[in-house]
Amino acid sequence: MENLKLALVGDIHGFWDRKDNEYFDNSNYDAILITGDFPGYLPLSGLKVTRGIANLKKKVYWIPGNHDSTNAVQLLGEILHSKWMIRLGGIGHRFRLTRLKRRMGDTICMGYSVADLDSKTVLVGARPLSMGGSLNFLPLLKKEFGVSSERESFERMKSLYPKIQGKECVLLAHNGPAGYGSKRDDIWGCDFRKKGGDWGDRDLLHFIEFLKERGEKVSLVLAGHMHHHIRDLGRDRTWKVNENSTHAVNAAKVPRILKDKEGNSFRHHVRLERKNGVWDCQEIFVGKKGEERISLPDEEVLFSSDTF
Ligand SMILES: [Fe+2]
Ligand SMILES: [Fe+2]
Repeated sequence: MENLKLALVGDIHGFWDRKDNEYFDNSNYDAILITGDFPGYLPLSGLKVTRGIANLKKKVYWIPGNHDSTNAVQLLGEILHSKWMIRLGGIGHRFRLTRLKRRMGDTICMGYSVADLDSKTVLVGARPLSMGGSLNFLPLLKKEFGVSSERESFERMKSLYPKIQGKECVLLAHNGPAGYGSKRDDIWGCDFRKKGGDWGDRDLLHFIEFLKERGEKVSLVLAGHMHHHIRDLGRDRTWKVNENSTHAVNAAKVPRILKDKEGNSFRHHVRLERKNGVWDCQEIFVGKKGEERISLPDEEVLFSSDTF
């Protein structure tokens, strides 16, 4: 089996700069995968990010997160389970998604789709725009993909099977699958409820089970959305789990640009490397001159004035 080297960038939320472009363009990654959520909390902060990523010379695959192409009314509607808010905010959603894809230039937007990473490895995009809990942004999912229930979402993923069969499978989602625990600091555990809960997507879990039942090799399950740091616990959640020959990785270190005590800034991504058929997943922190560190013991948050 050929060697393969992938960079996984978690939720960006405005934290992308020209050092990222320099580093990735000069790297030997075969491709860069991004879990989405480009904008920070200021309007237009996503533009700087999309411009930077669109300018990358490497092959880039990304999946829209719940902050990409959506607005505050929609997001609030999803949180409050308000159908009318979701519908009202959803006016023009298709246009905004198309515009975002155009801004992203030659990069490849994933979502209920399959792309070849090499002759024997496929990248499979799960349901786009997921924020966990249930199906999100239903009007868009209906119009764009004909999906209006978890069952239909599962069926939509299942319909990709002929393109996946017999290949090694790398799954890319915004929110991860259910089945990885219900403690608040589990990889996709619900941290915003005191009692916790499994915040993973059930349609994605069923799809992974479907592939495994057929003997397919699901090597990597890559996602973000549930940010690493859990403030009131004062620690980060589990970010990788290796179970039943599948590496699950949550790359959502937010903010992904950090600084150490001396004020040196570091940019986070996860290195996924297949050597002689074996995958290794490693957090990487890249300094200003492109130097790499595998940990950042005394990390502090770097607040960038134009993003947060
Ligand atoms: Fe998200
Ligand atoms: Fe996020």
